Amino acid sequence: MDKFVINGPTRLTGEVTISGAKNAAVAIIPAVILSDGICRIENIPNISDVHIITQILYALGADIKRVNLNTLEIDPRNIHTTVVPHELAKRMRASYYLIGALLGKFNKARVSMPGGCDLGIRPMDLHIKGFEALGATVKTENAMINCTADNLIGSPIYLDMVSVGATVNIMLAAVKAYGLTVIENAAKEPHIVDLANFLNSMGADIRGAGTDLIKIYGVPKLHGTNYSIIPDQIEAGTYMVAAAATNGDVLVKNVIPKHLESISAKLEEMGVQVEEYDDSIRVISNGNLRRCNIKTMPHPGFPTDMQPQLSVLLSMAEGTSIVTENVWGNRFRYIDELRRMGMKAVVDGQVAVFEGGCKLTGAPVMATDLRAGAAMVIAAMAAQGQSEIENIYHIERGYENIVEKLTALGADIKRITVPDETPKAAARVS
Ligand code: UD1
Repeated sequence: MDKFVINGPTRLTGEVTISGAKNAAVAIIPAVILSDGICRIENIPNISDVHIITQILYALGADIKRVNLNTLEIDPRNIHTTVVPHELAKRMRASYYLIGALLGKFNKARVSMPGGCDLGIRPMDLHIKGFEALGATVKTENAMINCTADNLIGSPIYLDMVSVGATVNIMLAAVKAYGLTVIENAAKEPHIVDLANFLNSMGADIRGAGTDLIKIYGVPKLHGTNYSIIPDQIEAGTYMVAAAATNGDVLVKNVIPKHLESISAKLEEMGVQVEEYDDSIRVISNGNLRRCNIKTMPHPGFPTDMQPQLSVLLSMAEGTSIVTENVWGNRFRYIDELRRMGMKAVVDGQVAVFEGGCKLTGAPVMATDLRAGAAMVIAAMAAQGQSEIENIYHIERGYENIVEKLTALGADIKRITVPDETPKAAARVS
């Protein structure tokens, strides 16, 4: 049971380089299955979610060569099974992209229901609706999703609500289908565009990614490619908020500022100075934070994956702020933990009201999910005294070298390995 021990308060200063996007990597790596050649992918973040999805491809039979820490060469030509067992799929949410990729390549897939962060009910009805519209038969039995098709045939698909996962999965399944697939009300997140660019670099014909209408003209064959993944929007946003919460001055490098507009706008509204350059953003805070309200929305709205981190900042600002969570049903669980550090908030369903002006103090807390964990790291760096954050495996799913990056910015953060207390060890103590 490893944990972070953080002593605060810290003023973060200096430069940090953002890694490749987790949510793009976990879509692009399964997309390699669709290729008939070797794909070399660069700027892959070295995080546990990527290790798991890579292990799944390896278990299916792909040959995988690690060129360096952030580059993989994947040859999918020896994939010999279309079954992804529970032991692998349960370890991450994005394992459901194996369904679209295997179905798109082999016309069949049998994948266990996915795991991942507990953010409330996470249905897959829109994914299934998409597969069925393409001509697949989908059956769910014993927590396995079983898809088969004689042929996949392009079709118009309207998504009742904007879903990143369904948009990705339909793109994967449709890219080699016969004819034209049109996804209406598609998600517009940066990683949707990155996946489309990756598939197009393999010979796909996908148009309109980044808008709510994506057209996929099916192609019979996809070839190998060289590709570099975009920088991580949420990792960048997390360091921006960390700078703001610690009265810091941080240059966040290797970013696409356009992807960060909704986050920059909120920080500016709160009185934080944000300077935008070609591929970096400097965030400077003098500690005078103003209240503001947030409503999470699909891209280009304010991302739900930044909601817990920004809420830490709101609890330190002058005045009362209201946060409305429109994407997930259960994304305020971190507040119970952060109350131990002095956060004051009232939650009513999808709305949380944050009382500002809180003086945070160090405390032991438990990361309840990935972004909640990131919020706790930020709070601990802003707080007076020592904090211990448990369940850091959540955080390490999505943040590459977080200890090294924060230490370089001046944080006092250590990763401690705590041996499991086995019954034998406990007996020795007593
Ligand atoms: C992705 C991100 C996640 C982020 C979320 C929203 C990845 C790997 N994960 O998750 O970090 O928080 O987008 O930006 O990219 N829904 C349905 N039916 C479906 C699918 C979704 O009702 O079939 C609902 C969900 O319950 C949720 C909303 O649609 O309320 C958005 O979910 P979705 O965009 O699909 O999220 P994920 O792709 O799982």
